[in-house]
Amino acid sequence: MNYAILINQENKIKSNYLKKINLIATEDQNKDTVLVEEETLKAFNELQKFLKTKGINIVIDSAYRSIVDQENLYNESITKYGEEYTTKYVAKPNYSEHHTGLALDLSIIVNGQIQDATTHPEIYNKIYETIHSYLKDFGFILRYPKGKENITGYAYEPWHIRYVGKFIAKIIFENNYTLEEYLTNYNGVLIINKPKGLTSFDVVNTVSSLFGIKRVGHTGTLDPLAEGVLVVTIGKATKIAELLTSTYKEYLAEAKLGIETDTGDITGKILNTKKTPLNIEVEPVLNSFQKTYYQEVPIYSAVKVNGKKLYNYARENKKVELPKKEVTIKEIKLLSKTNDTFTFKCTVSKGCYIRSLIKDIGTALNTYATMSALIRTKQGKFSLEQASTLEDLKQANYQLYKIEEVLDYPTIKVDDKLGKRIQNGQKISNDFNIKDKVIFLTEEGKLLGIYEAVDNFLRTWKNF
Ligand code: DAL
Ligand code: ZN
Repeated sequence: MNYAILINQENKIKSNYLKKINLIATEDQNKDTVLVEEETLKAFNELQKFLKTKGINIVIDSAYRSIVDQENLYNESITKYGEEYTTKYVAKPNYSEHHTGLALDLSIIVNGQIQDATTHPEIYNKIYETIHSYLKDFGFILRYPKGKENITGYAYEPWHIRYVGKFIAKIIFENNYTLEEYLTNYNGVLIINKPKGLTSFDVVNTVSSLFGIKRVGHTGTLDPLAEGVLVVTIGKATKIAELLTSTYKEYLAEAKLGIETDTGDITGKILNTKKTPLNIEVEPVLNSFQKTYYQEVPIYSAVKVNGKKLYNYARENKKVELPKKEVTIKEIKLLSKTNDTFTFKCTVSKGCYIRSLIKDIGTALNTYATMSALIRTKQGKFSLEQASTLEDLKQANYQLYKIEEVLDYPTIKVDDKLGKRIQNGQKISNDFNIKDKVIFLTEEGKLLGIYEAVDNFLRTWKNF
């Protein structure tokens, strides 16, 4: 269920969303039956109960509306209040978020009397302000705030609240965003401590559904067996993923001696075993791997040969020559050794597979070696100490790094005139003496684009 769904004057409700929502019947202010989305109703009941303790009595004026309901409402409003008022306050059928069951219009009861929310809200401004200050704690946002009319497309509606869930409501409240702003401006990089057992893609899915943001990516895959630093990009930051993965990575790895598996790690099928001397000297061989060499890409990898991913060759039992890639082992250090395992720390270049490195060490030791555990402790400038677990993330205990913060390029603030040209991706002259890339920001610090130096010009590389 996507609680961050955007319905506004440009985005209409889709029929498949309507099929998915679970509407529950409840009573409105007149004791008539109205429908509210399940989670939204639970949250409303809690909000209502809480506000009672503050001496505020809220009831539902309007909740779920069918397309026909909205059409009737719209036409009625045109007849009664005219076009100008209606465009400011009433959505056209198909374009109302009341179709989702996630939006509620509130009324307040003062001295036992229902105060129609839509007629004189100004009288109850103070009460509404108090209500608004608590919304986020129950997963609601004020959907059409004052001062944001040009973004939401509607006049200030103190009565209209929208359920998005506590996680997103908190971000929206703290950043003083509208839903529109949240969905376009909330971009950046998250450092996640991936647990064992999940794929990198599972982490991306978790992040995507938690934030209600579709565009989420990751850089530098970690297999299910591996844990540690996974750099996740949110929204527009996904455009810079390639820059974040081209850096050095640091790992702690454990290898088991004397066995070879099809996948190169301990979860695979054992192909070969070899009796290995218990006192085998690992350290000198391990140290000799501090070098640049051509490493064979493992068959269980997504690297493509003739347009087909290697793991598909493996699955189909098809023969394929494994490509070799130049990798650099910048540092490698033995940490411990038992009879049949050893652990080490290493810093390696982009594209280096630790499974392959371990296999190569095994061969050099005249035996087999298979990866049995792997922790990524660093990717570029991001280290495990900075990483949030998925639990931390759910508790809103995380940091979102801005795109310009994670890149080591100079930043330049430009005026509106140049800003427009940059936003349009136009070529500009290199008056800034940029050698590689540069990040352009507006005077307010909003990211415009990344440009690269080509001859005497600066050419757009990514715009945001
Ligand atoms: N009042 C809001 C804009 C609606 O009609 O959905
Ligand atoms: Zn409404």
